[in-house]
Amino acid sequence: MTATARIHPSDPARPAPAAPASDTVAGYHAFTLGQFSFARDEYFVTVTWPAKGHRQSHTMSADAFLRALMRDVAWNFFYGLVNFDAVFGTRNLYGRVEIFAGRYNEAIHGAGLSYVEAFDSTDAMARFKEILADWVNAGFDPFAAPAETENSPFGEKNGNNLAAIDRFRIATKRMTGLPGDSPLRSDADGFPVNRAFADVDQGEPEIEVEPGFEGEVHAFNLFKYLSRSDVTWNPSVTSVCGRSLFCPTTEEYILPIIHGNDRVEWFLQLSDEITWEVADRETGRPRSRLTMKAGDVAAMPADIRHQGFSKKRAMLLVWENATADLPQRYERGELKPWPVDF
Ligand SMILES: [Fe+2]
Repeated sequence: MTATARIHPSDPARPAPAAPASDTVAGYHAFTLGQFSFARDEYFVTVTWPAKGHRQSHTMSADAFLRALMRDVAWNFFYGLVNFDAVFGTRNLYGRVEIFAGRYNEAIHGAGLSYVEAFDSTDAMARFKEILADWVNAGFDPFAAPAETENSPFGEKNGNNLAAIDRFRIATKRMTGLPGDSPLRSDADGFPVNRAFADVDQGEPEIEVEPGFEGEVHAFNLFKYLSRSDVTWNPSVTSVCGRSLFCPTTEEYILPIIHGNDRVEWFLQLSDEITWEVADRETGRPRSRLTMKAGDVAAMPADIRHQGFSKKRAMLLVWENATADLPQRYERGELKPWPVDF
């Protein structure tokens, strides 16, 4: 392993350089962020970065890039690593963010051709949002399952879909459905039952509260709530208990990112089936392949990356531990990367 080619921490006081507005391909603007450049054409996105005195480049399919970028923006860089693929991605430093190319790819990094640059999160987020706004065509929803959005990520620039890319991760203070907290979903609010969950019971639990405990007791039908999710691979918080977050989500097709954990996370498979490919977080070497069926529970260790595959829309409960210093404690080796010994 060699060191990353160069690290240029950007000056937090200086905003990211403006994108050259005149530089367009097929109607799409090209963008820069620090030493990275981003361009898209009818089919592909090409990212370039400096290494060994030259520019290295990497190309991804435009739809895959936009689906990954959508999650990174909506999740505010999420926990740990968001690998767009085996080469490009982001690492959340919580307030700062590293954007990397090849850093977690054993061959590229080993050849000294990787590159990492750190940014103020708000600067990087602003540029990523500009890219999404310019590169997502009318009709293409990068949050939707491929079977539920128009096949318009490709071709020359054709309008935009700002409404679709404005959806962000739902923030819940205590529990979904409580007064003043994140809302439940209904037909009237534009959340019909998804075609894959037509058989899900739509009843709500009856809540009988002792006098004096009104506002303290709450329940809702989580299966009903998830049956009405209009997006895929987008965990949203439905309950908060201390630092324990329940983040259920519905999954169909392929998780558009390869998530590199910086802490343990638990998966509870609530319905149907998801297959996970699990690899070493640092190198990408395969570690395991896991098929989860309804009722299965798994812990994803803190030193892995994972990507899910779901042939039919499935319900998954992701259980996250939001304790602030967990990534540092794992990095210092204070905690084992797995949560339990048998
Ligand atoms: Fe994950």
